[in-house]
Amino acid sequence: MKETILERLRQGGHVSGEDLGRTIGISRTAIWKYIKELRHAGYQIDSSPNKGYLLVSAPDNPFPEEIKAGLNTRVLGKTVVFHKEVASTQDVAKSLAAQGADEGTVVVAETQSGGRGRIGRAWSSPSGGIYFSIILRPNIRPTEALRLPLIAGIAVAQAIAFLTELKPKLKWPNDIIINGRKAGGILTEMSAEVDRLDWVIIGIGLNVNTPPESFPSDIEDIATSLMKAEGEYIPRVKLLQHILRELESLLDIFHESGFEPLRTQWKELSNTIGETVKVISGSEEIIGHAIDIDSDGALILQKNDGTKERIIAGDVYIRKASNG
Ligand code: BTN
Repeated sequence: MKETILERLRQGGHVSGEDLGRTIGISRTAIWKYIKELRHAGYQIDSSPNKGYLLVSAPDNPFPEEIKAGLNTRVLGKTVVFHKEVASTQDVAKSLAAQGADEGTVVVAETQSGGRGRIGRAWSSPSGGIYFSIILRPNIRPTEALRLPLIAGIAVAQAIAFLTELKPKLKWPNDIIINGRKAGGILTEMSAEVDRLDWVIIGIGLNVNTPPESFPSDIEDIATSLMKAEGEYIPRVKLLQHILRELESLLDIFHESGFEPLRTQWKELSNTIGETVKVISGSEEIIGHAIDIDSDGALILQKNDGTKERIIAGDVYIRKASNG
């Protein structure tokens, strides 16, 4: 109901409670109740006795109505589930996926109390960031799924570059790096049978307008936010919408033309290829020159003895302070 009222108000100009009520089929009093709720949620709506209601501004919160307004995607974000606070959007998305939620469903939260990062780490999720999980049901084999978070990384980097002056880089497998510091990360989880993927959840966390003082002390020297790097507030809803649009069109390319064109794009955005890196993978530590990613998205290292190592999971440390 609120969505329909907002849709009408977004067309601009004043609209009377009576007209709104008639279009939607509810009473003026009910409209007034919804307007009050919208104001409470941060919408600035003027009302004048003769002219009716006027939408002056909308809040920059990742509310479903805001994300869906003007999104124009085919699949991603057709359903958006919002939580003001949740343990982890991954867990909500997983349970929705298990119950059969549509491909493209997005679960987004204002804050997470138990945000999860890769390799069992915590993901600090204070207010001001963007935290969301996307349900995908791609028709690919489980072994091909390593490519999906790399594709999501490209979408995030391109969306940031489109909306800001920043030049985001990708650290393998999919850290979003700005000015040598981590501004975002991607966690991919899936449910699969041996030869068939059931669902994949791509979880994206971005420090957007996150106040630097809210970073936990163990990451304050290596983390940044887009606002800190850009020097101004970044509209979160616009950014999230743009990520969804970019991701949808990159996934179309993936399904039509395979990973190769995206591999090239990823390498262009990478801060890892061409660098000497240390990779910690389980209990193993490997040092080598990052020379490529292969057609699966695995990182190819050339070690000092000339042999090559193929890495499919791990933490990469670039051995040059300036690159993160
Ligand atoms: C990483 O770099 O370690 C990945 C971080 C992924 C964080 C996001 S925030 C939205 C989604 N929900 C979570 O609990 N984690 C992911």
